[in-house]
Amino acid sequence: MGPCQLLTSLVLCMCCHFLSSTAWSVNNFLMTGPKAYLIYANSVQVGAQSGIQECKHQFAWDRWNCPETALQLSTQNGVRGATRETSFVHAISAAGVMYTLTKNCSMGDFENCGCDDSKIGQMGGKGWVWGGCSDNVQFGEKISKQFVDALENGHDSRAAVNLHNNEAGRLAIKATMKRACKCHGVSGSCSIQTCWMQLPDFRDIGNYLKVKHDQAQKLEMDRRRMRSGNSADNRGAIADAFSSIARTELIYLEESPDYCTKNKSLGLQGTEGRECLQGGKNLSQWERRSCRRLCHECGLRVEERRMEVISSCNCKFHWCCTVKCERCTQVVTKYYCARRDKVRRPQNSTRKSGKRHHVQRT
Ligand SMILES: *[C@@H]1O[C@H](CO)[C@@H](O)[C@H](O)[C@H]1NC(C)=O
Ligand SMILES: *[C@@H]1O[C@H](CO)[C@@H](O)[C@H](O)[C@H]1NC(C)=O
Ligand SMILES: *[C@@H]1O[C@H](CO)[C@@H](O)[C@H](O)[C@H]1NC(C)=O
Ligand SMILES: *[C@@H]1O[C@H](CO)[C@@H](O)[C@H](O)[C@H]1NC(C)=O
Repeated sequence: MGPCQLLTSLVLCMCCHFLSSTAWSVNNFLMTGPKAYLIYANSVQVGAQSGIQECKHQFAWDRWNCPETALQLSTQNGVRGATRETSFVHAISAAGVMYTLTKNCSMGDFENCGCDDSKIGQMGGKGWVWGGCSDNVQFGEKISKQFVDALENGHDSRAAVNLHNNEAGRLAIKATMKRACKCHGVSGSCSIQTCWMQLPDFRDIGNYLKVKHDQAQKLEMDRRRMRSGNSADNRGAIADAFSSIARTELIYLEESPDYCTKNKSLGLQGTEGRECLQGGKNLSQWERRSCRRLCHECGLRVEERRMEVISSCNCKFHWCCTVKCERCTQVVTKYYCARRDKVRRPQNSTRKSGKRHHVQRT
């Protein structure tokens, strides 16, 4: 098994616990990773897993919802797509690994690493000095880079794109770090503060990278130079294409396929049968438009399903000491995308199937 399949096998074993492939993928690390890094293997795995979980959260109401099948298939047939969506998977996985390693370090989980105290005692700005425990992102960055980037062993444009997106993921952590401070001074006057840099919630990094996904740029390469087959020309063309793109931005090579429709060869389920949200009071604009995005714009209709949910209610405290509850049934309505031809609609179809557009999230 090539090292480039490693992250995918990591991801896979996390998604399919029933395969109990955990030990198997850790073993892969032991075989390919330097032995000294054995101590980090568990954190790397936990980190990659939190990346994928965050991916699923961020894309819960998108047509592409970070499915395992897509991640899996992409390496099985040796042809990995480099779409806008895979750019996000790379970035969030790399970020997850760096995040967990950094957190572990601050928690004292590793003997050879601790808080970043390089600035302690120095003046930071007006009225504050560096102190406390700054999260050691340099450590997290270094180790995660060695693990995650090592999975990319190609030298083609695809590998370059993946490496770029890995780095964009790691930079997202640096960009979202926050300064935290503590007041000192006579009776809490806060005349002087000590401050340190700390990691944000991982959710903030997910939100940040989702925006980067929406704004991802397509890498345009000089086709003629690429086709010449000359490896120097090839590398030159890749370098030129990259020169105009900031390291913080996500990039892709291929347009995304149509995520509305099922496509077995690409491992895509399509949106038929997906749940969407409607009518809730507290929905974000992105959620409120989910039925339109997943169903209507994919040529599907919205099917309403009522379900009875049994829950505890009217709980009373009895002396002493029990709580007794009643069982209440509540009817909840859920919405799903369903095929249109099941119900004859009077209006002539105004399908927009196959239409794809990237709506910016607000
Ligand atoms: C690192 O942190 C993760 C998540 O908090 C935890 O599951 C893992 O055990 C930690 N690793 C080590 C080596 O302590
Ligand atoms: C599946 O995707 C491939 C590649 O984009 C495309 O050529 C093929 O037509 C698609 N199949 C279906 C059933 O949409
Ligand atoms: C609605 O959402 C806001 C912000 O997300 C939250 O603070 C508030 O508690 C929510 N209200 C209800 C009724 O869920
Ligand atoms: C639906 O519209 C098409 C052309 O737009 C027309 O040929 C067809 O007869 C219409 N069908 C019905 C049932 O009105």
